[in-house]
Amino acid sequence: MSKIIDGKAVAEKVLAECLEDIQELKSAGVTPGLAVVLVGEDPASKVYVGSKVRKCAELGLHSRKIELPVDASQEDVLAVVNELNDDPLIHGILVQSPPPPQIDEDAIVRAIDPAKDVDGFHPVNVAKLALEDASGFVPCTPAGCMRLLKEAGVETSGAEAVVIGRSMIVGKPMALLLMSKQGNATVTVAHSRTKELAEVCRRADIIVAAIGMPEFVTADMVKEGAAVIDVGINRVDDSSAKRGYRLVGDVAYDEVAAKCSAITPVPGGVGPMTIAMLISNTIKAARQSMA
Ligand code: GUN
Repeated sequence: MSKIIDGKAVAEKVLAECLEDIQELKSAGVTPGLAVVLVGEDPASKVYVGSKVRKCAELGLHSRKIELPVDASQEDVLAVVNELNDDPLIHGILVQSPPPPQIDEDAIVRAIDPAKDVDGFHPVNVAKLALEDASGFVPCTPAGCMRLLKEAGVETSGAEAVVIGRSMIVGKPMALLLMSKQGNATVTVAHSRTKELAEVCRRADIIVAAIGMPEFVTADMVKEGAAVIDVGINRVDDSSAKRGYRLVGDVAYDEVAAKCSAITPVPGGVGPMTIAMLISNTIKAARQSMA
């Protein structure tokens, strides 16, 4: 029988720690500030941006939401980023992904001051993660996954970990964290070209699924007693649901849950952790700006 890892509860614990840090910083005269930039009207992005800004308000953080029209130019977005880089009240900047197709996202990320890059996507922060330089910012989703493993009592040291997916947002940083001196795992990164994927996955004590394919990881791919972290959020049609769809992860939850020792549900697993780690990174940016 598997243990369900309650991401909402762990996120609340992280946010309670954040609240203490925020109060400490405020008494030292600094209110951490986060700016969230949304280009266009993507409905999912609007929801994410709304919840990030709402969470800032709840915790007493300073926040700015900057919305640009769907036909905004590269120069328009760069001008906003430059203004935020120079705003002393803003310690963290996040440009919601994905932007509309006319925007060169890599160039936008490179324009963000690395000291304010709370997403951890700037090359300086990618390098700091690889170098295990603690002054860098770790991308929020993999940072949240590491915290979930820790809170669930999953031993990563010496474990065989398989990360499925090699994105810059999740797969690659997740692999770096697991193999770092913090994780000490033996890591395999699997992806769409991996041969014998099921066999590779069956070796794993820990599986992190981040491929964006609904219910891709099935019970036959999972070793008895493995821990499974599901990063996927996929909409699948469901005529019996009020909205006409339901959300599923990258893992076939019921059959895998019956076999593993610990698993994150979707929703309520990794999702709530992402905002908590974003707030945590913003506090770190504010603190480092004081030094
Ligand atoms: N879109 C989906 N996840 C993320 C994230 O972590 N950061 C940004 N900037 N955009 C996203």
